[in-house]
Amino acid sequence: MAMLVLFIILSILVNPSSAKTNYNVLSFGARGNGVTDSTQAFINAWAAACASTEPNTILVPKGRYLLGPVAFTGGCKSSDITLQIDGTLVAPADFRVLGQAENWVSFDQVTGVSIIGGSLDAKGTALWVCKAQSGTNCPNGATPDTDDIHVQQSTNVKIINSSIKTGDDCVSIGPATNNLWIEGVTCGPGHGISIGSLGKDIEEEGVQNVSIKNTVFKGTQNGLRIKSWARPSNGFVKGVQFIDVVMQNVQNPIIIDQNYCPHNLNCPNQYWKPRQGYGGGRSTKCDGQKHSFQRYPKWAENKSWVSPSNGFVKGVQFIDAVMQNVQNSIIIDQKYCPHNLNFPS
Ligand SMILES: *[C@@H]1O[C@H](CO)[C@@H](O)[C@H](O)[C@H]1NC(C)=O
Ligand SMILES: *[C@@H]1O[C@H](CO)[C@@H](O)[C@H](O)[C@H]1NC(C)=O
Ligand SMILES: *[C@@H]1O[C@H](CO)[C@@H](O)[C@H](O)[C@H]1NC(C)=O
Repeated sequence: MAMLVLFIILSILVNPSSAKTNYNVLSFGARGNGVTDSTQAFINAWAAACASTEPNTILVPKGRYLLGPVAFTGGCKSSDITLQIDGTLVAPADFRVLGQAENWVSFDQVTGVSIIGGSLDAKGTALWVCKAQSGTNCPNGATPDTDDIHVQQSTNVKIINSSIKTGDDCVSIGPATNNLWIEGVTCGPGHGISIGSLGKDIEEEGVQNVSIKNTVFKGTQNGLRIKSWARPSNGFVKGVQFIDVVMQNVQNPIIIDQNYCPHNLNCPNQYWKPRQGYGGGRSTKCDGQKHSFQRYPKWAENKSWVSPSNGFVKGVQFIDAVMQNVQNSIIIDQKYCPHNLNFPS
């Protein structure tokens, strides 16, 4: 009898996960054959995990799972959900399908979610090849590229040991994210890991306590990026640590850009104020010199920049970063001036 009790205790100790409820995506209709769309199965598995009051695990066994854009949204009863990925999540072969969505796999308003392992392949390679070949019809500024994993309005999220390939950010981190831990992640191709874009709204909850450890960037456009729009906002970034990061063939390993405006054009949330007059005249360029010009560019008509938002990036640490074959190792841009024209004084 004592032996039996001991055996039961031992098997519980040896296999602690048996105490957790498991939701296997296969039971929800997912197929790991790379061709069956498993999006709904993942959504249903998440719904079950989210409704459970117990700590639980969503299991994604070995195999290739075709996933369209999927949002794992919170309001869950459990604050301990693990997404254990042993297989590969693949995006639809036509990357234009994802090109319509801002994020591929997003976590919004969740608490206590760990994403462990797996490969996330958003067909970034096909997109990067497409981008490299001029004349082909790749998604451009008009069609937003897609971030692989997006986390926002969430607390205590972990992303561990995942390999991520994409056309845009491997991980993007939105407002109101607290206590995010990223470890053992491989990113590339892609745009790296980005905090932002932030500062969209005047009232915005900040990003706080983000750690990125033992992460490898290979052939990415950026490594670690913090970007915020140039407009007034009470948003902030506080307590970010990058520890033991390796970057190989990365264009811009570290960028802190507090005047983010992709393509310098029509930034949706750029804060403009009406300008007196338009047409030809003289204006002050970023170099402080007056220059004559024929006419404001069309997009700038009757508008001008307001002074950029307050510097609200605080407490960022980079510890042990290794960079090989990189272009611009560190960029901190607080004085951005598109087209070198009409910089606010
Ligand atoms: C992540 O990978 C490392 C190295 O392979 C391993 O030691 C660790 O247990 C893994 N972590 C998790 C949570 O699976
Ligand atoms: C920061 O986040 C980590 C998890 O990523 C957590 O362990 C730690 O307690 C948090 N620190 C604070 C001050 O909340
Ligand atoms: C700019 O302002 C001028 C003068 O107020 C006005 O006549 C013109 O239509 C405006 N242009 C645009 C593009 O709004």
